[in-house]
Amino acid sequence: MRRSRQLGHCICDPRKPCPCDLLIEKDVCLCAGERLEEPAAREESVRLTKLVKNAGCASKIPAAELSRILKRLPEVSDPRLLVGMGTADDAGVFRVSDDLCLVQTVDVFAPCVDDPYLFGQIAACNSLSDCYAMGGTPITALSIIGYPISTQPSEWMYRMLLGGMDKLREAGVVLVGGHSINDEEMKFGFAITGSVRPDAVVTNAGAQPGDLLVLTKPIGTGIISFAAQVGRASEESLRAIEKSMSTLNRTAAEIMVRFEAHACTDVTGFGLLGHLRHMVRESGVTAEIWAAEVPVFPDVRRLAAEGVAGGAVERNREFAEECVQADDGLSEGEMDVLYDAQTSGGLLIALSAKVAEECLAALRESGCEDAAIVGRIAEKSEGRIHVTNQASSQEPRKDGAAGSPSVSPKPGAALQSSAVPPEEECCAPGAAVAAGNAPEAFKQFMGNVFAPGALDVIQKELMTIALSVAVQCEPCLKIHLAKAREMGISAEEIEEAAWMGVAFGGCKAMMFWQANNAGTPKS
Ligand code: CO
Ligand code: CO
Ligand code: CO
Repeated sequence: MRRSRQLGHCICDPRKPCPCDLLIEKDVCLCAGERLEEPAAREESVRLTKLVKNAGCASKIPAAELSRILKRLPEVSDPRLLVGMGTADDAGVFRVSDDLCLVQTVDVFAPCVDDPYLFGQIAACNSLSDCYAMGGTPITALSIIGYPISTQPSEWMYRMLLGGMDKLREAGVVLVGGHSINDEEMKFGFAITGSVRPDAVVTNAGAQPGDLLVLTKPIGTGIISFAAQVGRASEESLRAIEKSMSTLNRTAAEIMVRFEAHACTDVTGFGLLGHLRHMVRESGVTAEIWAAEVPVFPDVRRLAAEGVAGGAVERNREFAEECVQADDGLSEGEMDVLYDAQTSGGLLIALSAKVAEECLAALRESGCEDAAIVGRIAEKSEGRIHVTNQASSQEPRKDGAAGSPSVSPKPGAALQSSAVPPEEECCAPGAAVAAGNAPEAFKQFMGNVFAPGALDVIQKELMTIALSVAVQCEPCLKIHLAKAREMGISAEEIEEAAWMGVAFGGCKAMMFWQANNAGTPKS
C-alpha cells in the first residue's frame, strides 16, 4: 500500500490509480498482501456468467477473423499428420504407428452457467467432444484454467476443477496435469489426447451425395445463455441446456462409428451452419438443411423471433452466409437459431441414407432422445448450404428453386429496420429487440427515446457515446461513433462526450475508450 501510494498507482495492477476501487469499496489492498474474505456467504449468489462478457463458446474469436489470421501462417505438413490445421476439423490426427493415431484437441472457454461445478462438467464435455467427433477414444487430459484468484473465491476454482474431473472419470479419461493462470476473466477447459485406428478416423471431409444428416442434440444454448444474461430465460430452458451441455457425446460417437458415418463434426461456437460450412467445403458437396426438423431447446424459436440473440449469431452469420442460401419464407429469427453459437453441442453426422433411420433409432434408445435427421447431402459442389423451410423434402431440390439462379447471401431479412445497423447490435436495453420483430409498443418506446425532443439529435447522439463508454459496450460505441461522424459531429465533441463517460465509468472506461477510438479522425 505504501509503495502504491508513492507511485500513485496500485502496484498489483499498475493500470489502476491507488487507492484502487477495491480499497475504496472493500477496504482491501491486495498489494499490501491483504485478501478479500473468502466469501462463503456469497455462495448462494454465485453468478459466474455475470462475470464474463461472452458466455461459453460465444467467447470464441470470430471464425472469419480467425481464418484471415491462420491463412497467413506457414503450412505444416508431415506425412504422419493425417488431419492438420488446413481442414478446420475438430481435432488433429497424427499417425504414430501403422495401427495407431493420436487425436489431439484443446478447448477453453468462459463460463456459460452460474454454477462452478456444472461449468467444470460442461468444460470437460466440450473438450472431449472434439475427440469423439473424429471417431476417437479420449485417453488423457490436461486442464487449463484462467482464474481471477485475487478477487474471486478459491472455492469456485476448486469446484470447477472437481466438476471437470468427475466428468473425465465418467468418460474413462485420466487427468495427467494442467496449467493455471491468474487471469482477469475466468476460463477453463482441457487439452485432450485420444486414440483412433488410421482407417477409422471420421473427418469432416467425407460427406457424400445422398447421405442424410443427423444431429444428436438440440441447438439454442447460445440464445438461452444470452437470454439468461439479460434476465429473459425460463427455468425450464435453463435446466434443459444445462443437462444437454453436461452430457458427453461419447455414446453418440460410438453409435456414429458403428454405423460407419462418412463425416462428422460437433456443433459448437460457429453454430450449426458454421460447422456445416466446414463440412460442405471440405467434402465438396451441397447440404440441404430442413429448418423445421432441427431440434431446439424450449423457448429458442420464440426468443429468436423476439430478437433475443447474442453477438455471436452475427459473427457466425458473417462467416457462413456466403455459402448459405435460405428460402424466402424463412424469417431472420429462424436463421438466427441455425447460426447460434453452441456450447458442448451435439454431433452432426453425415451417413448413408440406408442406415440413417436405424442409426437414429439407436441414438434415441441410448439417451439422445432429441436426435433428428435434419437434412441431406445433395450434389457435389464447391461447398454450399441450402436452408429450406419445407419439412424433410426427400425429393432432390434444385438450387435456386426460390427464384435465384445461384447461391447468394441470405436475402434482405437481416437488413430491415431500425437505427441499429444489422451487422452489429447495441446493448442499450431493448435496442437489439427493437431491431428484430419486437412488439410494436417496444419499438415505439425505443423510437421515442431516440427521437429529438427537448434534447436535439446531436445532443442525444453525444449522450449515446458517453453512455457507450461508461458501460463499455463495444458494438454500441462502434455504431454510435460511425453515426456521430456521419451526422457531422466533430472529433472534439465526440472526444469530450467520451470523457464524460470515462468520468463515470472509471479506469476501465478510460482503457476502453483509448482502445476503441483509434478511428476518430483528429481535426
Ligand atoms: Co492499491
Ligand atoms: Co492494490
Ligand atoms: Co469441434
